[in-house]
Amino acid sequence: MRTQVGIVGAGPAGLLLGHLLHLAGIDSVILEARSRAHVESRIRAGVMEHQAAELLRAAGLGARMDREGLVHHGVVLRFGGASHRIDLTELSGGRSIMVYGQHEVVRDLIAARLAAELPILFDADCVAVDGFMAGSPRIAFRHDGAAQTLECDIIAGCDGFHGICRPAMPTGTLREFDRSYPFGWLGILAEVAPASEELVYASHDRGFALLSMRSPTVSRLYLQVAPDEDLGQWPDSRIWDELRLRLADEAGFVLPEGPILQKGVTAMRSYVAEPMQAGRLFLLGDAAHIVPPTGAKGMNLAFADVAVLARALDAWFASGDAALLDAYSATALRRVWKAERFSWWMTSLLHRFDSHGPFERRMQLAELDYITSSPIGAATLAENYVGLPVG
Ligand code: APR
Ligand code: PHB
Repeated sequence: MRTQVGIVGAGPAGLLLGHLLHLAGIDSVILEARSRAHVESRIRAGVMEHQAAELLRAAGLGARMDREGLVHHGVVLRFGGASHRIDLTELSGGRSIMVYGQHEVVRDLIAARLAAELPILFDADCVAVDGFMAGSPRIAFRHDGAAQTLECDIIAGCDGFHGICRPAMPTGTLREFDRSYPFGWLGILAEVAPASEELVYASHDRGFALLSMRSPTVSRLYLQVAPDEDLGQWPDSRIWDELRLRLADEAGFVLPEGPILQKGVTAMRSYVAEPMQAGRLFLLGDAAHIVPPTGAKGMNLAFADVAVLARALDAWFASGDAALLDAYSATALRRVWKAERFSWWMTSLLHRFDSHGPFERRMQLAELDYITSSPIGAATLAENYVGLPVG
C-alpha cells in the first residue's frame, strides 16, 4: 500500500489532518488501532477555542457543531463564596468559545472521511515506523490478522501520548519536559440541565471543582481528587455532596442532581517533547505534548499543530518548497509552550495543594481577586482562554 501522508491515529489530530490534506488535494491513509465505536464514544473535554471552531467551519465541518454546540461569551470563577464573571468576548475583541464534545468532533470528522470515501482503517495496529530519516518512510501495521506495510512520503504521528511514533524518534534527538501534579480529576457526565449557563471554575479550600456541560440537558462536572483515587469510594451521593460543597456561593447556588451516565478519574500532567519532527516523521497533538485539562487546551493544541503542518505540506507537495515544513516544530512549539504555561498557571491557581500552607492559599486568593477585579488581569485570562493565534 502507498500514499502521500501516512497518518497514525484517528483522534482529533489525525482525523482533522486527513481532512485538511484532502481539501488540498493530498492523499492520505489513516491507521487507527481501536474500533470506530471505541474512538467515537471516548468522552473527553469539550471546549473549543474561537479559531478551532472557525477552522472546522472553514473546512466544511461546522454544520452540526453550529446546530448543537453552545457558544459561550464568558466563564465564571468562584472563590471565597462569590462568583466573578470573566467576559471573554468583551475582553478578547469579540471572540467566544464553543462548547461541543470532543467525541462529537471525532464523529463529524469520521463521517466526513467515510462520505468522501477516503481510506481509514480501524483495528489497524501500527507496530513500527521507519525509513523516515532516509526519505522512504514506512509504517508497519497489523490489520485483519495480517502484517501489512504502508509506504508514504511523510508520516504524521497522531497516535496520542502512548503511541509508537514519539518513541521511534532517533535516540538522543528528543528532549522531554515533564511535570505531574499531586491530584487528578474525577469527572462525571450527568443527565441533568446545567446549573449555570456558563462554565464555573471553583477554587475551594476543599479542592477544585468545575461545572461544565454538553447540552441543555447534560452536565459535565469535575472534582479534584487524589491522582489514584478509588472510584469505589465515590458513590453518586458522595459526588453530588462534594460538588455542592465546593460549588456553593453566597448567592445560594443550587446544584440539581440527575442520573450519572459515566464517571472516571484522570491524572494531571504537563509534558512536551522537543523537537516535534525527525526527518519525514512529524508529531502532532498528544503524541508530542500533554496539558492538564484546567485550561481546556488539549484538542485545541492538536488542531493548531494540524493547521501548521497542513499548510506546510501543501507548500511542499505543490512546489517542493520545504521552508514551512522545516519550520514546523519551531512554529508549533512556540504556541505549545504558551498553552502549556496557561494550563499550568490555571491549574496552579485553582487547585488545593497539600504542600501549601495558609500563605500560599492567600497568594492564590489574591491572584484570583486581581484576575477578576482588574480589566488587565481578566483580559490576560480571556485572551488565552479563547485561544492565542495559530502560528
Ligand atoms: N496504531 C494506530 N493507532 C494508534 C496507535 C498505534 N500504534 N497508538 C495509538 N493510536 C491511536 C489511539 O487509539 C487514538 O485513537 O491514536 C489515537 C490518538 O488520539 P488522541 O489520544 O485523541 O490524540 P490526539 O488526536 O492528539 O488528540 C488530542 O485528545 O487525548 C485527548 O486531551 C487530548 O484533547 C486532546 C486530544
Ligand atoms: C469539559 O467540559 O469537559 C471541560 C471544560 C473545561 C475544562 C476542562 C474540561 O477546563
